[in-house]
Amino acid sequence: MNAYSEPVSAAAGSPDLLRACIAGALEKVRARTHALTSCDDAELVKQHSPLMSPLVWDLAHVGSQEELWLVRDVGGREALRPDIDRMYDAFEHPRSSRPSLPLLSPEHSRQYIGEVRDKALDVLEQSVLEGSALIENGFAFGMIIQHEHQHDETMLATHQLREGPPVLAPGPFPPGIGPSSAEHLPHEVPVPAGPFTMGTSLEPWALDNERPAHQVDLPAFWIDTVPVTNGAYRRFIDAGGYQDPQWWSGPGWQHRMAAGLEAPLYWVRDGQGWYRRRFGVFEPVPDAEPVQHVCWYEAEAYARWSGRRLPTEAEWEKAARWDPGSGRSHRYPWGDGDPTPGQANLGGKTLRPAVAGSYPAGASATGARQLIGDVWEWVASDFRPYPGFRAFPYPEYSDVFFGTEYKVLRGGSWATDAAACRGTFRNWDYPIRRQIFSGFRTARDASPDERG
Ligand code: AVJ
Ligand code: FE
Repeated sequence: MNAYSEPVSAAAGSPDLLRACIAGALEKVRARTHALTSCDDAELVKQHSPLMSPLVWDLAHVGSQEELWLVRDVGGREALRPDIDRMYDAFEHPRSSRPSLPLLSPEHSRQYIGEVRDKALDVLEQSVLEGSALIENGFAFGMIIQHEHQHDETMLATHQLREGPPVLAPGPFPPGIGPSSAEHLPHEVPVPAGPFTMGTSLEPWALDNERPAHQVDLPAFWIDTVPVTNGAYRRFIDAGGYQDPQWWSGPGWQHRMAAGLEAPLYWVRDGQGWYRRRFGVFEPVPDAEPVQHVCWYEAEAYARWSGRRLPTEAEWEKAARWDPGSGRSHRYPWGDGDPTPGQANLGGKTLRPAVAGSYPAGASATGARQLIGDVWEWVASDFRPYPGFRAFPYPEYSDVFFGTEYKVLRGGSWATDAAACRGTFRNWDYPIRRQIFSGFRTARDASPDERG
């Protein structure tokens, strides 16, 4: 068994094909960005929450990063707007202070990012896409494509925070998505003990924090077949889970009290029932959907109340990637092929997760579902570098965030694009955050007689 064998993208090795893939992905993400910023200028310049930037900041920021990383660093071209570098540097200005900056207007932002894009396409045309780690397999372009998609997801979180009538309309799920009523899913699936390959060294556009591939040996454990649902989470609320410190960690209880947490963000109690505001629409909370907008502390408390725990990051990845049949780790739960609409809810169009148990075609070899897409899943682990980690291309991408302050989220949400999501992808945030599309699933150790 070669636990390190991994596939390489089909486009690698053919510069023309790779160039066409990159151009297509750049066009697709830009259309998405424009669609999310096509509302009135007043909505774009307003700060909808101190947790978020005004949408117009994200809009010009994606162009600013593209100018820095591609046009200047890779292309060696002259700076278009060196005067605005600092205004769109995320480290210079916290989100809450961004509305007071002399930001480019929506019109000027669109114009600016269009001009940057023209130069980036020019760089793409000229590049041989090999010879340096930064450009090998189009990495720098892949990084910029993923970066813009990440900000598109951030903009969706801002749209969700926004009060007032809806400006985004939900798109449909593919036909037939949803659990079949005839199908009985076990509530948990076993993952046998043993080593597996975590992370990747070969995935061309994997970011520095996903590297390198390394062996991790785990004891046997069980993991939920599907993410925790609203219905299950409501039983925790109804059982007084938010009133009982025994389920919460010390910092978790402190935060629950200080922030007055009583239910997931956007839930409101109305008489006997729970309602939620979702992109400007009030609706009953659907029991069968994975719970969203919970912080890490809430996930931790629920897991303890249910007699279980959050999976570690390694457990999550083993459940998602490891194939007991071949003994190797795949790029995705279903194998090595890029996600299709029938396998995972990704791309940001549905404005909601699919009901739990959907996407049998996206199941992992271990039998777990919806590991990719639907909701980001909090795991127990802090955001740490893998053994052999090297910051690339900049320490500001991941390195400065490693430590005990951030918890890891895995698998992407309905708001994540396929280009910015894979079995090795690592997201991170503060354990108090819940404006993101965050949910979780639970796990437990295998008992001695289950270990076999
Ligand atoms: C990986 C999602 C935590 O949005 O802060 C965007 C990605 N890095 N711009 C974030 C990112 C720089 C990052 N997360
Ligand atoms: Fe950014």
